[in-house]
Amino acid sequence: MGIRLEGKVAIVTGAGQTRGETIGNGRATAILFAREGARVMLLDRNLSSAEETLEMINDEGGECFTFEGDVTSESDCVAMAEQCHQHYGQIDILQNNVGIGFRDAGITKLKEEDWDHIMNVNLKSMFLTCKHVVPYMRARKTGAIVNISSVAAIASTGMVAYKTSKAGVMALTQNLATGNARFGIRANCILPGLMNTPMAIEGFSTSLGQPREKVIADRDARVPLNQKMGTGWDVAYASLFLASDEAKFITGVNLPVDGGQSVRIG
Ligand SMILES: NC(=O)c1ccc[n+]([C@@H]2O[C@H](COP(=O)([O-])OP(=O)(O)OC[C@H]3O[C@@H](n4cnc5c(N)ncnc54)[C@H](O)[C@@H]3O)[C@@H](O)[C@H]2O)c1
Repeated sequence: MGIRLEGKVAIVTGAGQTRGETIGNGRATAILFAREGARVMLLDRNLSSAEETLEMINDEGGECFTFEGDVTSESDCVAMAEQCHQHYGQIDILQNNVGIGFRDAGITKLKEEDWDHIMNVNLKSMFLTCKHVVPYMRARKTGAIVNISSVAAIASTGMVAYKTSKAGVMALTQNLATGNARFGIRANCILPGLMNTPMAIEGFSTSLGQPREKVIADRDARVPLNQKMGTGWDVAYASLFLASDEAKFITGVNLPVDGGQSVRIG
């Protein structure tokens, strides 16, 4: 076991994952945080998926517990923060991983209810989790928030609601960083690029009606670095750094984890 998060308590939202062949960003991050010594609260609205993550962490000798909750519900976010504090006595790290792109579309096709749902799950959720965790962090004058945005926020994409919500995550993070710096709380954003996670591969395979091998090949070909997508572990390692004291002078940044996708212009 490592020590980079020794003595720290982390909440990871979306710590289960979409069913599929590879590991999701949230599950990989929860496992890595536990490996590095953090005690971890695994929140997911899909409890059985969070329980799978718990078993993986327990098998490695890590410490964690699961919590069934929907991050679009304010009462669930209140309960999440209270439960974590009751269980472990402190909250040092909040990893806001939950995000979806389901049923997104171009501007003339996107339905109002789908816009609302994506904005709620991707953006309102982070406002709510932060609203209820920040007071615990302020009380101890320390904390690290890592919000998962997406390269889609700054790149060209036809997914209107996903892009807009993820750009909102960047703005929210800047607000959190400036508003909480005097309390010793850091807030940073990660912008994953094209990742080989179940949400992307199994998700697009289903929505586009294409075999997963084709979805993988097409996405791999779009990545500048080695023409290969990243994995959940790449997001996890970037999150580990930003959540740890190694990043103690870093706040308000947007870190692309994208194999160079966001700097390829033209
Ligand atoms: N995979 C990619 O290519 C990619 C690229 C850029 C950004 N991202 C971002 O990475 C993040 C997570 O990706 P992942 O691969 O871990 O996804 P995932 O689908 O594997 O995991 C997300 C988890 O969140 C849970 N969840 C969904 N809505 C919830 C809600 N309202 N309340 C509580 N839990 C909820 C799901 O049950 C699931 O277990 C998302 O924010 C996504 O937008 C992914």
